[in-house]
Amino acid sequence: MNKNSLLTMKDLSVDDILNILNDARAFYISTKDWQLPMRKALVANLFFEPSTRTHYSFESAEYQLGAQPVDFTADQSSITKGESLYDTVKTFEAIGYDAVVIRHPQDEYFTELEDIQIPIINAGDGKGNHPTQCLLDLLTIYNEFGKFDGIKVLICGDVAHSRVAASNREALERLGATVRFAGPKEWEREGYPFVDMDENIGWADVVMLLRIQRERGATLSEGEEDYLNQYGLNKERYNRMQDHAIIMHPAPVNRGVEIDSDLVESEKSRIFEQMSNGVLVRKAVLKRAFGLKPFEKLTSQEPFEKLDLKDELDKLHKLEQELEAEKEKAGKKVKTL
Ligand code: CP
Repeated sequence: MNKNSLLTMKDLSVDDILNILNDARAFYISTKDWQLPMRKALVANLFFEPSTRTHYSFESAEYQLGAQPVDFTADQSSITKGESLYDTVKTFEAIGYDAVVIRHPQDEYFTELEDIQIPIINAGDGKGNHPTQCLLDLLTIYNEFGKFDGIKVLICGDVAHSRVAASNREALERLGATVRFAGPKEWEREGYPFVDMDENIGWADVVMLLRIQRERGATLSEGEEDYLNQYGLNKERYNRMQDHAIIMHPAPVNRGVEIDSDLVESEKSRIFEQMSNGVLVRKAVLKRAFGLKPFEKLTSQEPFEKLDLKDELDKLHKLEQELEAEKEKAGKKVKTL
């Protein structure tokens, strides 16, 4: 396995996580147009499960980095003729691809791919892991609070089938946050600290809602008619959130099921910011996958909307002018020789 692969959050030390978040912030603040030094690196996006955000934000990140994304459609591939996942990925390696991004319904599908040498980035495995979703969630929390230590996160809904819940718990606790879970009893996950949503809605700095993962067989014996009022974020619970608290959701959102439709774009919601942050984080993860060192540490901890980008752009403009002047000087020297 390539050492720059990203399969689970456990692959990353706290320093690695902070470097990725720093690089993602740098992509917003000062290195928007930075590209991979290798020309047109080929990245295959192998999605064996439907996806909008992860698939197309990887594609956007790849284009922005000057890589060449290539989409793979399982039902148009030799998978339909019985080829294994290993042989499919090995084929991409053999025909010159530089990295693969994989989403697959099987938990920990990547254990079959130990012998692959190109970097693999996990875009979600069954109910196991979703590391890039976790990183974009971390970036969203960091942008809001400037830290993780002491942040209280309440994750609500279908915890049992959620890879987002699993990845976020592991990383957030390691970074010093406290994570509690709420939802239907039959979707509790062994070893996870479950609490009553109503008693904890005013405790949380972050309320993270999860969709019912029907594609993984989630059904509720009591039915889902009153799900919003029983287990979701309705307006009454919203009004009891702390003033500074935010709403997050990995999406896709089922409006009116786990969250009242009017709250999806409410003042406290960061759901669409999460999606924008996904492109920044995936650029950082791809940069790392190609073995490139992290950028210099940024000093600013300001949320994106409070950043004074004019200052940064002025600095960049000045550097560009200096570079042009140097080039001109060098040109004159050559002519006089
Ligand atoms: N959050 C997430 O993984 O969304 P997609 O399934 O649309 O990629």
